[in-house]
Amino acid sequence: MRSDDAGLDSAAPSPAPPPAPPLDVEFVRRQFPALAGEWALMDNAGGSVLPASVIARATAYMSRYQVQVGASYPRSREAGARIAAGRAAAAALVNAAPDEVVLGPSTTVNLQTLRRALAPGLAPGDEVIVTDLDHESNIGAWLPLRERGVVLRTWPFDRARHTLELDALEPLLGPRTRLVCFTHAANVVGYTHDVAAITRRVHAAGARVCVDGVAFAPHRRVDVKALGVDFYALSLYKVYGPHIGLLYGAREHLLAARGQNHFFIEESRVPYKFEAGSVNHELTASLVGVREYLAAVDRHHGGDSGDAASQLDRVFALFAAHERRLLAPLLAYLRARPDVRVIGPGPEGDERRVPTVAFTVRGRRASELVPLIDRARVAIRWGDFYARRAIDGMGLRAQDGVVRVSMVHYNTLAEVERLIAALDDAL
Ligand SMILES: Cc1ncc(COP(=O)(O)O)c(C=O)c1O
Repeated sequence: MRSDDAGLDSAAPSPAPPPAPPLDVEFVRRQFPALAGEWALMDNAGGSVLPASVIARATAYMSRYQVQVGASYPRSREAGARIAAGRAAAAALVNAAPDEVVLGPSTTVNLQTLRRALAPGLAPGDEVIVTDLDHESNIGAWLPLRERGVVLRTWPFDRARHTLELDALEPLLGPRTRLVCFTHAANVVGYTHDVAAITRRVHAAGARVCVDGVAFAPHRRVDVKALGVDFYALSLYKVYGPHIGLLYGAREHLLAARGQNHFFIEESRVPYKFEAGSVNHELTASLVGVREYLAAVDRHHGGDSGDAASQLDRVFALFAAHERRLLAPLLAYLRARPDVRVIGPGPEGDERRVPTVAFTVRGRRASELVPLIDRARVAIRWGDFYARRAIDGMGLRAQDGVVRVSMVHYNTLAEVERLIAALDDAL
């Protein structure tokens, strides 16, 4: 090729990237032993099932490596390496460094640990903002700060859209604001807030953010650096992993926060100083299996290995596209019924929804409807989902909260159709 040809080529508009192939959901389902059987599992916001790769990693650790870590003998070193690899895999999942992720039994426990760690840095009269939309995890954890004279303020959700709006945060921000705690996607609404924009606003006010990413992380790529957050919590058992919670903290914040481990564990030892009693060894080691599963999905769909970040981007893009296909018919069905009220914004908000749909039916209690759907072997759920303040704020306690359908990428369109048929019989 002549050099001027090359010049012409590079000046031409670059072709659009080829469209991503649809998710091969049958391939995906084969990776999850618990998906065999007749039940359609649509209660995933409570917890997802596990791919075989995670089960294999936990089993391998327990059958071959469960010795004391930190010693010099080879098996001990191998055990330590497996735990470190699990932490590294979890950190890569959110684009953090391994020493920026605190692993603990759950998000609820991790946020309480974080509160105890941050408390010594707060003075009487300092202010912390929580919402009334969040799961109680990211509200209740902060309330004991009042015992130190810290003022707790509530960022109220928009009563029509059931979302957090910056306008309502604005009057609460002030010179004493130290921390704003809010949810990425609310577990009863499924609407994704613009965490990066909210964080920029909070940082401009001189405060930090603590984001609950539990209901978001199973569906979309979490990149804590791109979001710019200070603290970000998620529950790995809802992201195709074992029952562990992950708390990200920007390194400088973790270094400055008070350790929660023994007195001789130095303040420089992050994240260990927050992991009193150590992490769960076998489950931490099994986290490599989550990365292996996501890598297998990428390979199956033609992804070239590339770096971890681009691989995760591709896989979560596949998940997102598939989830939108699942969500559309369910929302269309529910919205077409005059007796149904879908919680959350109208169709204009659909692009920002993860496939978690909560609704109420006029004149029916949520608790009365769900057992009727059980008969079609579709697993859904009713209640407040520990977002007690949100359900109360919506005035829904008296009717037993909402019916919630929560799908993930391993659900199928056929399952959605079965659910719709079951709802049609029940309503
Ligand atoms: C949005 C949200 N935040 C926090 C939690 C609490 O998570 P964990 O069970 O890990 O404490 C849940 C659990 O359902 C949740 O849905």
